[in-house]
Amino acid sequence: MKIAVLAGDGIGPEVTAEAVRVLKAVVGDSAALELVEAPIGQAGVDAAGDPLPQETLAIARKADAILFGAAGVPGDEQIPYAMRPGASLLRLRKHLDLFANFRPAIMFPQLVGASTLRPEVVEGLDLLILRELTGDIYFGEPRGFRTSASGERQGFNTMVYSESEVERIAHVGFRAARGRRRKLCSVEKANVLECSQLWREIFIRVGQEYPDVELTHMFVDAASMMLIRAPKQFDVVVTGNIFGDILSDCAAMLTGSIGMLPSASLAGGSFGLYEPVHGTAPDIAGKDIANPLAAILSVALMLRYSFDRPDLDEKIQAAVSTVLSDGYRTTDIFEPGSRKVGTREMGDAVVAAIRNP
Ligand code: NAI
Ligand code: MG
Repeated sequence: MKIAVLAGDGIGPEVTAEAVRVLKAVVGDSAALELVEAPIGQAGVDAAGDPLPQETLAIARKADAILFGAAGVPGDEQIPYAMRPGASLLRLRKHLDLFANFRPAIMFPQLVGASTLRPEVVEGLDLLILRELTGDIYFGEPRGFRTSASGERQGFNTMVYSESEVERIAHVGFRAARGRRRKLCSVEKANVLECSQLWREIFIRVGQEYPDVELTHMFVDAASMMLIRAPKQFDVVVTGNIFGDILSDCAAMLTGSIGMLPSASLAGGSFGLYEPVHGTAPDIAGKDIANPLAAILSVALMLRYSFDRPDLDEKIQAAVSTVLSDGYRTTDIFEPGSRKVGTREMGDAVVAAIRNP
C-alpha cells in the first residue's frame, strides 16, 4: 500500500498523525505499508514557495491513495488563487480528476445525544451522500461579470453537465448502493433545470444496468426537507456538485460534530483521496484538543475503497465504537459524565482498541 501523506496546516498534522498510527496498527505488517509525506497548503509555501509543490503533486500521482489533513490559513481568501494555501486541495482534486466525493453520515449510538435531532429520527442512521465534484455550476463556462442590456452589472455562472460526466457518477453510485442496502436516490431539480432533466434521463438509463438497485428521484428542495425530517429513508443519495455541497453539510450535522466526519474522493478506479470533512480549525490548532476520529475514519474509508479491505474498515469502526462506549470524548463531543481526552489520547485509545478488540 503506497500512501501519500499530506498533513497540511493547522490541526491537519495533529489529526493525521493519529490516523497514521491507527493505519499502522490495523495493517499490522509494516512491510506492507509505504508512507510518503509531502507538504501542502501553507506548509507547501514554507517548504517550496507553492501551496501545491510540483514534488508533492508527483508524490500524490505515484501513490495508490492519498491521506489528506487540511489546508488553509486565516485570511486565505485575500491571497491570489495560485498562492492560496486553502486552494491547494481544489487544485489537487482537479489535477487528479477526483470526481466522486463520498460523504457517509453514520450515527454512532453513543453520540445520539450530540445530534440536533430527536433520538428516534437519527438512531441507526447510516447514509451515504455521493457528490459529483468536478462539474456543474462551480466549473461551467461561461462565467463572470457583464453588463445587462439595461446597463446593470450582472454576475453569472453556467450550470452544465455532459452525458459522460453524469454517466460516470451514476455508475459509481449504483456500485456503491450494491455494497449497501441497494437503494439509490438521485437528487436534482428537473422540474426547472434542463441540466437536471439530462441528469435524470441518464440515471434512468444507467439504472437499467442495475435492476437489483431501487432507483428513486427527488427534487433538491424536497430532499433537504426529508434529510431533516426522516433521514433514515435514504441509503445512497447521488447529486451534483452544488446540491451535494449543501446537502452533505446538512447531512453532516445530523450526526453531531464535524470532528467525526470522514470523506473519500475517487477518480472512478481504486485511486482516491481521503480526508476529514473539517478544515484547519485555527482556533484550536496546536492545543492537542482536536478530534482525530474524522481523520481516523478516513483511513477506514481508504482501506475499503482503495485497498479493498472492508475487514480493516470494520475493525477501525469497531475500535472507534468501543472507545466511544468507554466514554472517551474530545471537547467537541464532550457530554457531562464522559471522559475528556486530547487528540493524542483519543488516538492512543483507538490504537489500544484495535490491538485488544
Ligand atoms: P473548520 O472546519 O476548520 O472549523 C470550523 C469549526 O469546527 C471550528 O470551530 C473548529 O474549531 C471546529 N472543528 C473543526 N474540526 C474539528 C475537530 N477535528 N475537532 C474539534 N473541532 C473541530 O472550518 P473553518 O473555520 O471554516 O475554516 C478554517 C480554515 O480551514 C480556513 O482557512 C479554510 O479555508 C480551511 N478549510 C480547509 C478545508 C480542507 O482542507 N479540506 C475544508 C474547510 C476549511
Ligand atoms: Mg462545503
